[in-house]
Amino acid sequence: MHKDSVQRTLLVAFLLCVVCSIVVATAAVSLAPVQQANQLLDKRKNILVAAGLAKPADLTAEKVDELFQNIELKGVELATGEYVDIDPDYSIQEAAKDPELSHKLSAEEDQADIRRQPNVMPVYLAKTEDGQIDKIILPVHGYGLWSTLYGFLALEADANTVAGLGFYSHAETPGLGGEVDNPKWKAQWPGKEVYKDGEPIVELVKGGVSEQTPNADYKVDALSGATLTSRGVTNLLQFWLGEDGYGPYLKKFRQES
Ligand SMILES: Cc1cc2nc3c(=O)[nH]c(=O)nc-3n(C[C@H](O)[C@H](O)[C@H](O)COP(=O)(O)O)c2cc1C
Repeated sequence: MHKDSVQRTLLVAFLLCVVCSIVVATAAVSLAPVQQANQLLDKRKNILVAAGLAKPADLTAEKVDELFQNIELKGVELATGEYVDIDPDYSIQEAAKDPELSHKLSAEEDQADIRRQPNVMPVYLAKTEDGQIDKIILPVHGYGLWSTLYGFLALEADANTVAGLGFYSHAETPGLGGEVDNPKWKAQWPGKEVYKDGEPIVELVKGGVSEQTPNADYKVDALSGATLTSRGVTNLLQFWLGEDGYGPYLKKFRQES
């Protein structure tokens, strides 16, 4: 075959494509377990930080494993509030796409603007050394301005007082809605309450919260310049704490403890 022939050029291009695709496919397959391990580590870090059980800077992989020894994963059937078996790899995103594992919310029900809701949600129970439940960590999600925010709301064992709130995934604007990640804003959450007379009234309020604000214990400053993200956070919290969310479970939890 002549050095400058069309056939030879095509053959070289073809062989190059084959070699490159083998390299890429091998890298993708061999790195998949590492990616999965990193995703799990990241999720666990978010749970621990949201619950106020650790600071992000202190969380090495070993520390995460150690702290997770005291955290139990449970499945909760939202409609009944009962515990059910759950796969450790259960994904709320995947469940929400599966018609057998989730249901469509009506416009009236869909306060968090999520369209479909898994029938079963994972909850994480953080326990003390002597096995007592110390914190209940609930995955929450809902729409802000640009994106669905995914995070964890941690409650104390009274199933009413907030231990912490943190979001691990969203695409709100940095400096505006993205301030949900600001440690100063997040520091307002621990100690706040969520239920008044059984209703989830916790909310973000524009203009800030002072001691004079009525029901100040249930309120946190809205994010400045981000009324729509703030409204989304209020909506998602009230939705997940309400009758269509963890409401039945948390009510049962309070009665049984
Ligand atoms: C480029 C751009 C990005 C914005 N990002 C957000 C955001 O992430 N969250 C939000 O609530 N508002 C965002 N806004 C502002 C909203 O459009 C709206 O003006 C704001 O929510 C009103 O809040 P305020 O009443 O506190 O000013 C953005 C505006 C612009 C121009």
